[in-house]
Amino acid sequence: MDEIRRLAPRSVLQPGGRETSEERQLQNAPAAARLTYCGERPKGGTLVARPSVRRGGATMNANLRFRRARESDVLDLVCLIDSASRGLALWLWSTLRVPGQSTIEVGRHRIRMLSASPLYYGAFTVAEIDGVIAGALTGRLIPIPYERGDSADLPDVFAPLLELEAVAAGSWYLTIVSVYPEFRGRGLGSALLGKAEEIARLAEVAQMSLIVEEANAGALRLYLRYGFEEWSRRPYIAFPGSKDEGDWILLKKEIAR
Ligand SMILES: CC(C)(COP(=O)(O)OP(=O)(O)OC[C@H]1O[C@@H](n2cnc3c(N)ncnc32)[C@H](O)[C@@H]1OP(=O)(O)O)[C@@H](O)C(=O)NCCC(=O)NCCS
Repeated sequence: MDEIRRLAPRSVLQPGGRETSEERQLQNAPAAARLTYCGERPKGGTLVARPSVRRGGATMNANLRFRRARESDVLDLVCLIDSASRGLALWLWSTLRVPGQSTIEVGRHRIRMLSASPLYYGAFTVAEIDGVIAGALTGRLIPIPYERGDSADLPDVFAPLLELEAVAAGSWYLTIVSVYPEFRGRGLGSALLGKAEEIARLAEVAQMSLIVEEANAGALRLYLRYGFEEWSRRPYIAFPGSKDEGDWILLKKEIAR
């Protein structure tokens, strides 16, 4: 039961919650409209509206499953990627718009179509709780020698990230780990790290790595507690609209055999 309580969405654990008309509308809205609530779904959002989750004692149904991402998951990935990048992804996509195109459309297109990109949907593993996407991860082996490839064209704010990726060459790099706000603080982030380590082990490398902003204190705490340690750091360069300060920190962890 403890495990179930940990993984059930926050709102599901509040007994007697009424489904509001906003939640009803949200439930019936197309996926593109639901994205309005990216990273900040209203209390309950689409999740509490699912009868199988809300019935008395319904948290009993909550369970965690990992699966490969599907094309139909792309809008969730857009949202989770932007959350993990603290808005950097959306900003980058906004710079790539052609007249008349929306920023979300750019992100959706890239994640859906660019199969060589590290953020291609096919490279993601999603975590579902009771059939609902709650979080996701993706990662890759950074080859030696490190090659920037398409990343060479990225704006200057990416320079510290690319430098740190070069340091991490030879490791399995956890590019994205992200959990929707209503599922945080119940162990799903830790479970995703465990899944990432399982995937990294298959790559037969000695280390896994990730880059976190110093400003992202909660995530940093989670990684250090999970066994990551600092490898290197570079000063953060803010993109327009970002108020974050500090460093980008590269972390590494020996992979348990
Ligand atoms: C970072 C992130 C993935 C962590 O996910 P999470 O599901 O909240 O992670 P966990 O629940 O395993 O751990 C987070 C906290 O919950 C606590 N926790 C874990 N299990 C718990 C439980 N059963 N009951 C209560 N708290 C619990 C942990 O102790 C930890 O506490 P802390 O904040 O004091 O360190 C999530 O916050 C997130 O997606 N953030 C936005 C995206 C992001 O920043 N990604 C990382 C980019 S590098």
